Amino acid sequence: MSKPFYLTTAIDYANGAPHLGHAYEKVLADTIVRFHRMNGEKTYFLTGLDEHGQKVQQNAQKMGISPQECCDRVAELFQGICRELEISNDAYIRTTQPHHIKVVQEILQKLYEAGEIYKADYKGFYSIRQEQFVLEKDRGPDGKWPELFGEVIEITESNYFFRLAKYQAWLRKYLDEHPGFIFPDFRQKNVVEFLKEPISDLCISRPKERLSWGIELPFDKNFVTYVWFDALTNYYSGAIENACWPADIHVIGKDILVPPHSVYWPIMLHAAGLELPKKIVVHGWWLSAGRKVSKTKTAADDNAPAEKTAIELMRELGADAFRYFVMREMNVGQDSEYSEALFMTRYKSDLANDLGNMVNRVLNMTGNYCGHVLPAPAIDEDIEKNLRALWEKTARHYHALAAEFQFHTALDVLWNFVRELNRYANDRAPWKLAKSADPADRARLETSLATMAEGLRLVAVAVTPVMPGIAAKIQKLFGATPAEKFAGAQTWSTTLTGNTFGDKAILFPRPQ
Ligand code: MSP
Repeated sequence: MSKPFYLTTAIDYANGAPHLGHAYEKVLADTIVRFHRMNGEKTYFLTGLDEHGQKVQQNAQKMGISPQECCDRVAELFQGICRELEISNDAYIRTTQPHHIKVVQEILQKLYEAGEIYKADYKGFYSIRQEQFVLEKDRGPDGKWPELFGEVIEITESNYFFRLAKYQAWLRKYLDEHPGFIFPDFRQKNVVEFLKEPISDLCISRPKERLSWGIELPFDKNFVTYVWFDALTNYYSGAIENACWPADIHVIGKDILVPPHSVYWPIMLHAAGLELPKKIVVHGWWLSAGRKVSKTKTAADDNAPAEKTAIELMRELGADAFRYFVMREMNVGQDSEYSEALFMTRYKSDLANDLGNMVNRVLNMTGNYCGHVLPAPAIDEDIEKNLRALWEKTARHYHALAAEFQFHTALDVLWNFVRELNRYANDRAPWKLAKSADPADRARLETSLATMAEGLRLVAVAVTPVMPGIAAKIQKLFGATPAEKFAGAQTWSTTLTGNTFGDKAILFPRPQ
């Protein structure tokens, strides 16, 4: 049996509440997985939480609770938002789970025994306040350390190092031989650039007296594992039970590509004798007023005119509205600006106006003129032929763009078709035809309803990976079972003929 298509997201730090950036990444990943599922593939979708490390330990201390308690609370929030967003993940990994810890320790032990990990002294500057090593380059032009570091002292510490440097040439060759390993292309070029300078071995341990909240090194109980080594391994530890490794796609944000996902991770896998993931899809950042959306609010944000966050709008307008907005707005790989106004414009024009009204027109007229039963198309004139031809072109284009992660243009192309459907309705004007006693007009009326309904069914099926809730709702209102596969459901048909259509429905309610 073939291995499922395996997709992962980054695992979120367990030290804050989820925001637009985290929510977006889940929706992007979920949309990709749903496309594959609807293309008939078996899929496995993993997301989760990164629970170890200094920040979690410090956070818990501040809150006066244990680190595990702190992680449990954050896990509730992140799993909650996955449910709200209708994320169809198969598993949720938390790096404090015993099976993950076991796998991390096994890999460490294997690398240690193979001589890939060695102990050495590390001498450097250490910030007592930040509890971290700082680098020469962090000094100000006057040679002083920035205020936020507090007192900086020189210390020597024994630690374990992973032989990263020895694989640099191998990694460069791998990237040369695998164009398209990282999407978009320019990100792969960034990594190639980075690898032109020599890299150093990676310090993969932290002494317990400095940091206790981590996975103990299997060969030295005085140390815990560096959090990135632990966190990256989740992709593998979360997959072995299901025999899905290697991952087909890792979806991550641009801030964690170089070096963790593009240097540490491929080298860790290669050194451990494991296959590399097939592709890394790197998205950009959501910005608000030009700055990265993040959990920390500054005084400037607090004084800014009250604006609803994307998460608040999602709760008010629904997961589908949120999913459509982020997928339509962001060109995967680039940054994108968020504002309440941008969200509302998409909501009102694309969703409520173009799509929602069209669905209602069909429901209304089928109710009023045909007793809720969709008639068969009775004629086939140029205007219908043109629309069908447009659909064929649209479907081809839409699926090709989605396969290349160009969801924003794919949706643009699809909405162009939705607007053509509206134009068709206006041209045919069934409400006028309904007043005529001429049987030819009745044939035109029935044909126009059948054509509009079929056009909308095709749109609903196409948009299912992006808006699963709305897509199912439209199909149900049209008396159909929501399609679970694209095959056979994306060609123009008369499957809706004779179906009983529902009453007028508000798909996209007016915001309060
Ligand atoms: N814990 C690490 C990842 C370990 S993966 C083995 C981490 N966590 S994070 O919570 O900071 O970020 C999780 C994901 O959210 C990352 O892919 C990050 O790029 C993404 N985003 C966080 N803020 C973002 C925006 N403002 N916009 C888009 N995504 C960004 O990094």
